Amino acid sequence: MNDMTPTREQRTAALEGLGCKRKRVEDVRFTQGKGNYIDDLKLPGMLHGDFVRSPHAHARVKSINSDEALKVPGVLAVITAETLKTVNLAWMPTLAGDVQMVLADGKVLFQNQEVAFVVATDRYAADDGVSKVVVEYEPLPVIIDPFKSMAPDAPVLREDLSGKTSGAHGPRKHHNHIFEWTVGDKELTDAAFKKADVTIKELISYHRTHPSPLETCQCVCSFDKIKGELTIWGTFQAPHVIRTVVSLIAKLPEQKIHVISPDIGGGFGNKVGAYPGYICAAVASIVTGKPVKWVEDRIENLTATSFARDYHMTTEIAATKDGKVTGLRVHVLADHGAFDACADPSKWPAGFFNIVTGSYDFPVAHLTVDGVYSNKAPGGVAYRCSFRVTEAAYCIERAMDILAQKLGMDPAELRLKNFVRREQFPYHSALGWEYDSGDYHTAMRKMMETTDYAALRREQADKRAAFKRGETREIMGLGVSFFTEIVGAGPSKNCDILGIAMFDSCEIRMHPTGAGIARMGTKSQGQGHETTWAQIIASEIGIPADNIMVEEGNTDTAPYGLGTYGSRSTPVAGAAIAMAARKIKAKAQMIAAYKLEVHEDDLEWDIDGFRVKGLPEKFMSMKDICWAAYNSVPPGMEPGLEAVSYYDPPNMTYPFGAYLCVMDIDVDTGVYKVRRFYALDDCGTRINPMIIEGQVHGGLTEAFAIAMGQEIRYDEGGNVVTGSFMDFFMPTAVETPHWETDFTVTPSPHHPIGAKGVGESPNVGGVPAFSNAVNDAFSFLGSTHIQMPHDYWRNWRAAKSLGVLG
Ligand code: CDP
Repeated sequence: MNDMTPTREQRTAALEGLGCKRKRVEDVRFTQGKGNYIDDLKLPGMLHGDFVRSPHAHARVKSINSDEALKVPGVLAVITAETLKTVNLAWMPTLAGDVQMVLADGKVLFQNQEVAFVVATDRYAADDGVSKVVVEYEPLPVIIDPFKSMAPDAPVLREDLSGKTSGAHGPRKHHNHIFEWTVGDKELTDAAFKKADVTIKELISYHRTHPSPLETCQCVCSFDKIKGELTIWGTFQAPHVIRTVVSLIAKLPEQKIHVISPDIGGGFGNKVGAYPGYICAAVASIVTGKPVKWVEDRIENLTATSFARDYHMTTEIAATKDGKVTGLRVHVLADHGAFDACADPSKWPAGFFNIVTGSYDFPVAHLTVDGVYSNKAPGGVAYRCSFRVTEAAYCIERAMDILAQKLGMDPAELRLKNFVRREQFPYHSALGWEYDSGDYHTAMRKMMETTDYAALRREQADKRAAFKRGETREIMGLGVSFFTEIVGAGPSKNCDILGIAMFDSCEIRMHPTGAGIARMGTKSQGQGHETTWAQIIASEIGIPADNIMVEEGNTDTAPYGLGTYGSRSTPVAGAAIAMAARKIKAKAQMIAAYKLEVHEDDLEWDIDGFRVKGLPEKFMSMKDICWAAYNSVPPGMEPGLEAVSYYDPPNMTYPFGAYLCVMDIDVDTGVYKVRRFYALDDCGTRINPMIIEGQVHGGLTEAFAIAMGQEIRYDEGGNVVTGSFMDFFMPTAVETPHWETDFTVTPSPHHPIGAKGVGESPNVGGVPAFSNAVNDAFSFLGSTHIQMPHDYWRNWRAAKSLGVLG
């Protein structure tokens, strides 16, 4: 070996594979304004659509008059439900097994519901046309409070369901009831409560909120009448599913539909579902023969395309007097708005909410969820969450703090006492999941040691004493949260969307010069897939990540996949990538054996190529194998080096984490200061630590927003009162706390590279940490539970109701 021969470390580093803080390759174009988003797309003759929307939350539509709108220069057409009926598209199926109006058909059911679609030569003309459409409404009584949805005299919201006593998920108890979903053992749980030394019961509400991607939902539809082909460019988190859904509802052959998701400016679940804008733009293009663009504005985004949460969770825990939990009982009232358009795998009407036993070894549990209709926007998306896991984690993490308070125990100690122990994995939870791996005690203790939790508690005790002596008006809260997520939907045995199993895919093609292209069924919206997917391939086949181009989002070229949401990309597509790479490597091994004139079994893998065992100088690099694949493969072997993998995961992955929020609140103003926020995440094998840190920072910022103010709120008349960024809390760098991140590594035993998802974790664990901090701060004044969001005014109001404002 001469001095120029790279060392093993240098060869490994050159790959920029697993564990490398590789810089994001996509940022080269993003930071130079060279991204390619939907609104950058300008096609010849392109038209623009804009919606007439309902000012009422519940009203009968008596008439729609488009005469004046059609006189506006540039306006070409006004599409209504009557137009859509001619192509059988006035209603569309939802992912949850319900149907949804595309345009108001006889009545409107929420404020800002789509009533008519105005098509014009430019966006301004379309907007002018919208203002000239005259709609006559007859207002009807409104239901905003889900607890009133099933009152005996509640108005009938969904007249189209009249007489239907069952829906997609079983029997309906009331005309505004959607489903009841039950999991667990009721008898055993009731018995545990009868025997318990201590019980708690609390209504824990998770308010309605909304993802706020920088780029709103949008699309361009272009129908080619000659070829009978429809091309849709859109902000789709799951482009293949959109293609199949469009084929099924528009009755177009699937091979004649091309769906392209270009760069996407954030998704957070908002871009999973199908919205009226997509259908109307497609119909308008079919009718006019021209491309039609639809771009929603911010108010439309916040008020109409999807919502998140709105879960009202009556939670009970049974425990022994020394703090061992013995039973969990939860009833959820789930407000789904006007149509059940929740984006969950088909068989899961409340998503994976049955992860609500969390990180604790509950011997028995029972869960019931009732879904109801109200006069609010439909949606029910997993806002940076894996299908209602955020709601479940909030529920159990608040409840554990409430139990600790009742027992007079430290919340961290109560958690340590009840954690599932390392030797219990794979762990079968009382509500039916098999947790793959975990080491909760190590993570919790690391959090407590790193933050000096004991010292913080001592400081809090001193401050409380000072408050009682009247020496300070500031109270201090420690928000502990320990979450277990369930991500990677999912195994075909329990997950599908409209009957399509939730596998994911990867196709890799290696070129002769040792470079390649890899395509997946996922679609990055900012997560950095172009960077990290190449890193998995680099480590698997020894080709530098820089030599692998990653492409997603074109249904004509990418293998079929179920898309990116709910942290499923790494657990599912990440596994498909490793498996496809291993197929490449297996063929490469045969080629190398042939070229080195040995048996395959005589070869061993060595970072970036194969070496003959015992003869270190006989080595063939993967780069050279790529070349050989195109000119000298073994006799009988097909030339070329490519592979495809469709990966059906055997199980979900269960990332976890220990978070701590230290907060000070001024009781006279309600103003809070997040003094410290520590987040320890365990997502198994870490592909790119820098990207993970970015994911955690982003998720924590959203958690901060949600817990401390971000809410879609309605007044009694059904008007959205937080429909713009003037009212909907959107933290900037000024408000956002400093984040400390940390990690442990507990690989997933069933994932090819041991990786679990991470994107959603900080939101899942962050919200309870903030809320527990506020609640912990007020707890010594006699409060048990203060509902989110914890904005200044609500903090002040809490202080007032606790009688500490003089
Ligand atoms: O499905 P989504 O991409 O939103 O979530 P994810 O699978 O949690 O991945 C988010 C980003 O973090 C991707 O770029 C992943 O490659 C990266 N990641 C990682 O580097 N290591 C992990 N163990 C998990 C995710």
